[in-house]
Amino acid sequence: MKFSLTQKFLFSVPADLSVVFSFDVNSLDAENRRRIEEVIRSEQFEDKVGNTLLIRTEDRKLLVVGLGKLEELDMADWQTAFAGVVRKVKEVHAKTVTISFPIKELNKIHISPENLVKGAVEGLELGAYEFTKHKKKENVSVIDKVTFVVEPQYDKEVKKGIAIGQITSKATLFARDLVNEPSSVTTPTFLSLIAQSLAKESPDITCEVMGEKEIKKLGMGGLIGISKGSDEDPKFIVFSYKGKTEKTIVLVGKGVTFDSGGLSLKPDKSMETMKLDMAGAASVLGIFSALPKLKPSVNVIGLLPLCENMPSGSAVKPGDILTSYNGKTIEIISTDAEGRVILADALSYAHKFHPDVIIDLATLTGACSIALGEEIAGLFANEKILADQLLAAGKETGERLWELPLAKEYEELLKSPVADIKNVAKTRAGGAITGALFLKPFVPENVQWAHIDIGGTAWEEKSTPLMGEGGTGWGVRLILSFLTK
Ligand code: BES
Ligand code: ZN
Ligand code: ZN
Repeated sequence: MKFSLTQKFLFSVPADLSVVFSFDVNSLDAENRRRIEEVIRSEQFEDKVGNTLLIRTEDRKLLVVGLGKLEELDMADWQTAFAGVVRKVKEVHAKTVTISFPIKELNKIHISPENLVKGAVEGLELGAYEFTKHKKKENVSVIDKVTFVVEPQYDKEVKKGIAIGQITSKATLFARDLVNEPSSVTTPTFLSLIAQSLAKESPDITCEVMGEKEIKKLGMGGLIGISKGSDEDPKFIVFSYKGKTEKTIVLVGKGVTFDSGGLSLKPDKSMETMKLDMAGAASVLGIFSALPKLKPSVNVIGLLPLCENMPSGSAVKPGDILTSYNGKTIEIISTDAEGRVILADALSYAHKFHPDVIIDLATLTGACSIALGEEIAGLFANEKILADQLLAAGKETGERLWELPLAKEYEELLKSPVADIKNVAKTRAGGAITGALFLKPFVPENVQWAHIDIGGTAWEEKSTPLMGEGGTGWGVRLILSFLTK
């Protein structure tokens, strides 16, 4: 999609489809306004987020879009409205679209002009996404050009919003593609090649790939142990982006390229979507694809433990004890609680980079989706300022987070009689919390740390306008916004 802006009158720009918000119909010329208001009345169009009304006149197609009460609109609503627009645009096979964008009026929404535009671009790009690579090529409708009609005084903000929105959308779709590809494609080896190609594209990024031998030598007993049942070799990727300041942020992404559960095998229904279990790693890859373009001032390290979790004669067994990178021993109770075991190695390895902040993104628990559903991710943090910054980034990007407690009371549920810790608590209750608590002793001391459980948000079962069925690329926009602040 190409984006541009103009100060011309909406209907003087040639386009297959013109878009106007229902509250803004009065900005049209008198004759069109009268006709359109008549249709809005006769069709009983309700001004609600997500409602659209297509009006065909002799010389044009016009889409009226509802936003409801502007004061109550948040970023997710705003993006959803644009994702709804793009669905309609596709339905009528329009290739060029002009959108009236009255920023002065839209200021009633508590979002800056730049972010309004960024959010609109994201809504259009994410809403238009379909993963059709492995399907018979049908006549998929593509949009060539979107023009925003804006007031001249917002030129600078609009241009910046367009540029940033295009970068963040592209990075999100890159992550979605990786999650949607079958696990037979996105093996640890494949993902490490992707990582290396990102580093090749930009002098600002370096990438080191460690194979089984090096991982063993480092003493990452968790990653080695979990990968033992698979024919695929594990990989450990260390990405590095150099900013201009001394501050260093480490991002860790869970990269289980397929989670069968291992010997604690998942039931077939639960296994169906388990190619999604590398979504944390996919998002970190998406984030790194955007860093050279957004150029945040902080240094960013990306750590990706990658492996497959499979049952076999050589697989890790319940009762086995693995020794993690920091020397702590883990009793494996369930081989299906594998993500936390490989994350333990990566989190403690982060100490090497003397980080100020560590953030991990992980499809860690199904329990998190029971607690918060598919639209809101679970946030755990050992420091309030960091939690608040991430919550703010969530509001700004529409990727919503809800903070859950690292409840000390539950720590004893993870005590093992034979090792320093066990990987699963006795009770399933509070599963997202005990998952987060397991990670805590592996985080280097005196470092701000946040764990984001994307077990519910990484994958959409029921398609929404913004997130079609499948991988969502969740976290890319959130973390990019956090890093550039
Ligand atoms: N990858 C799963 C978590 C998951 C489940 C993510 C569904 C997305 C959708 C994780 O490895 C897992 O299996 N967790 C177990 C933990 C349990 C054994 C303590 C779970 O959530 O059931
Ligand atoms: Zn699992
Ligand atoms: Zn898993």
